[in-house]
Amino acid sequence: MSDVKTQEHAAGEAAKDCDCKDSSRRAFFAKVGMGSLVVAAAGTGLFSYEYFSPNVLFESAPIIKAGKPDQFAAGTVTLDAQSGIYLINGVKGFYALGAICTHLGCLTAWKPELGTDGQIACPCHGSRFNRDGIKVAGPAPQPLPWLKVWLAEDGNLMVDRSTTLKEPEYVKV
Ligand code: FES
Repeated sequence: MSDVKTQEHAAGEAAKDCDCKDSSRRAFFAKVGMGSLVVAAAGTGLFSYEYFSPNVLFESAPIIKAGKPDQFAAGTVTLDAQSGIYLINGVKGFYALGAICTHLGCLTAWKPELGTDGQIACPCHGSRFNRDGIKVAGPAPQPLPWLKVWLAEDGNLMVDRSTTLKEPEYVKV
């Protein structure tokens, strides 16, 4: 009789162990499932945000306030690297050139020591331009563009990077 009780007790203990293992396995898979749902929901939220965000490029305004004329000494070529323009105080007046090389788009630099009168040089593949933007060496296919310049009512020289000129124009001050 006691053998039967012992066997029943052992069977009961084994069943409890088995339930316990089953429930811990179930809990584990439930947690994995919940984790997957959370990751999927986060991914969906992120892609939805990207999808609904406006697809806009935030570029700076094309019109640049270059400064007062007396900031530019006669004969100087001044690079505004942030705006990508040169402001030149030439013999005939002020004018502006785009400073981005027409070959592959590198930012050029004014080199007063080059040539007889200084040159604008591209560091990428060696194109060079004179102070009127005409190419004098290198692979650049076009001259540097002339940009529209005017004197604003507040006395500042303004440059419109979005307006290129077919013919040179000078601002006399
Ligand atoms: S980008 Fe200026 S020479 Fe190539």
